[in-house]
Amino acid sequence: MRFWRRRPPMFRRSHLKILLIGNSGVGKSALMNQYVNNRFSSRYRATIGADFLSKEVHIDGRTMTVQIWDTAGTERFQALGTALYRGSDCCLLVFDVTSSNSFEALEKWHRQLQWQIEPGEEATFPVAVIGNKTDLKNREVTSEEAEEWSKLHDANYFETSAKAATNVQDVFEWAIRAVLKTRKAPEQPQLDSVHLETNPPEGAPRQKCSC
Ligand code: GTP
Ligand code: MG
Repeated sequence: MRFWRRRPPMFRRSHLKILLIGNSGVGKSALMNQYVNNRFSSRYRATIGADFLSKEVHIDGRTMTVQIWDTAGTERFQALGTALYRGSDCCLLVFDVTSSNSFEALEKWHRQLQWQIEPGEEATFPVAVIGNKTDLKNREVTSEEAEEWSKLHDANYFETSAKAATNVQDVFEWAIRAVLKTRKAPEQPQLDSVHLETNPPEGAPRQKCSC
């Protein structure tokens, strides 16, 4: 059974939820911390269950509260999946460019994501693939193969280093803009579309009633 729920329009206008998924150790928490706190730690502390951080973002003249959900990559917590996906606006599939294993696992993560997306929203739901740890020399996955995989799965591809803070801002800014594009409801009622009936200006001819 699918539990994916979109937020009601009033709530969705200035809030946005971005979900990070991918194998354990690929750098999901590091990316979140780099984006929200501009910090990086070499110490590895596996996420238990899930964690989130919020950030207020000013983008294209709008202020948004962006909630980033960082999930545990280990199988043990996969039962939480459905609840975590609920209300998400965008998903970032993360792998480690020095681990072909983590790249191959994208198939599984992508399948899980597809299962959670509302039928009919697959085409518009923003998804990006992130090849992280580009600061390391021992690469096992080339940019070309990652790009090809992403294209096949209708996802944008980015390469990042949470350590060197390379491209991290760009990824999240892309995600925010991609979500905003999918939201068709205007931020505020368009005043010029609200026509208030008033007395005609002095001197203007009054319309005759046809009844
Ligand atoms: P789980 O919580 O177990 O799912 O892992 P995770 O995907 O959140 O990985 P995490 O962010 O905890 O990073 C794992 C390890 O990789 C840590 O030791 C990080 O310091 C390191 N790491 C993360 N990003 C980078 C990066 O861009 N470059 C390098 N060199 N190390 C990184
Ligand atoms: Mg983590």
